[in-house]
Amino acid sequence: KNLFQLAIDGPAASGKSSTARIAAQRLKFEYIDSGAMYRVVTLAALRQNLSPLSLDDASKITYLAATSHIFLHTIFNPPPISHTSSSKPSLPQTLVYLNGEDVTHEIRSQEITKNISGIASNPDVRQVLVEKQRALANGIYDYEGENSSFKLDTLRKSPKGIVMDGRDVGTVVLPNADLKIFVTASARVRAIRRYKELQQQQSTTKKPLIDFNKVLEDLEKRDKSDYERKISPLKKADDAVLLDTSDMSVMEQADNIIELVLKRA
Ligand code: C5P
Repeated sequence: KNLFQLAIDGPAASGKSSTARIAAQRLKFEYIDSGAMYRVVTLAALRQNLSPLSLDDASKITYLAATSHIFLHTIFNPPPISHTSSSKPSLPQTLVYLNGEDVTHEIRSQEITKNISGIASNPDVRQVLVEKQRALANGIYDYEGENSSFKLDTLRKSPKGIVMDGRDVGTVVLPNADLKIFVTASARVRAIRRYKELQQQQSTTKKPLIDFNKVLEDLEKRDKSDYERKISPLKKADDAVLLDTSDMSVMEQADNIIELVLKRA
């Protein structure tokens, strides 16, 4: 299979995931959320009382990553997203399963986000996940083989390509991707986006209000660990197109990316 490979990297809350989802929907590509995989392994480790930061636990966590069944399934909405529609479009959503259990919401918690850098800087865990990511990018969705408890026919039928977003997709996972995009936005703009997201979540869960400065601080902390880690740091690939989204809406970002894909395809 020769699928068009679109790699989108960038820091937290840069808009890459929303953009990647919309682009996938409009281009009829499969969407692969590589960050969700690091989140699942973090969750699996915490549940076993393994510490992501402890060197003693590193090999146990790698074993856990290699033996856990991680399944991602993106639901694309039937009505096509168009920017002429007045109501706010809902984004394609990725359901995430750990050994058959739906952990879609649990992996987005602060607890997971706080602990993820220890997992993301473990080279053996990265190797395990990168292999799974490459298999997915090549259209091998049933790499778990017979053990898969999920129906493959729920995945996109013969996608035209794949979009994968993350931190090292263009540099490490898919160095030969057909198109690489590096999405940035100022830390302040990204913190405002994350803050609005959290506010929305809080209005449904009725949790206490968060502080904007804390959101900014957490984001800068995660930037630092993503940019500065020794193995596979967040970095623009030499041949990636830089997209600064500080002044762009998600729809404008998606339009930009789709135009670039159509030029290359
Ligand atoms: O994209 P998301 O914010 O869900 O990613 C969570 C974390 O997983 C990132 O902060 C990063 O540390 C790690 N990650 C990574 N490599 C990727 C994707 C995510 O190290 N390709």
